[in-house]
Amino acid sequence: MSATPEPSPPLVLVAAAVIIERGRVLLTQRKAGAHLEGAWEFPGGKVEADEDPRDALIRELREEIGVEAQVGDIVEVTYHRYPKKPVLLLFYAAALAEGSPAPAALDVAAVRWAEAADLRDELFPPADVAVLAKVRARLAGA
Ligand code: C5P
Repeated sequence: MSATPEPSPPLVLVAAAVIIERGRVLLTQRKAGAHLEGAWEFPGGKVEADEDPRDALIRELREEIGVEAQVGDIVEVTYHRYPKKPVLLLFYAAALAEGSPAPAALDVAAVRWAEAADLRDELFPPADVAVLAKVRARLAGA
């Protein structure tokens, strides 16, 4: 008799923002106790089943860091298989329209503006690392 294989966890769709102002990019830090605690990431979160990913990103930025944002074009799409869930991340270029970013929800520990030299792979969740080269190029004005 063979064991029934575990059903695969469903793919989680995530939208994240690359927000650049004056040569720096906006990052948020995941809180202690959360998946990937302490990691710095591009702000964003899960897209609900009935949501346009751009609307989800606007909602997440409002909820997590208290800003209104305009969401533009896709910068990168990455797929990563975490041990408990596969994620597909849509990275969008975005701009702040209103408000100044600060932790507004319990799942964000801190907010910072980072320069290209601060974007070290080991600070980021594995799913975010694949976009770093493009963000560095944008920060350099390439
Ligand atoms: O932020 P939230 O917990 O809703 O994101 C869902 C999942 O997407 C996280 O647990 C994490 O695995 C992943 N994620 C990521 N990089 C981001 C945002 C989320 O890897 N910038």
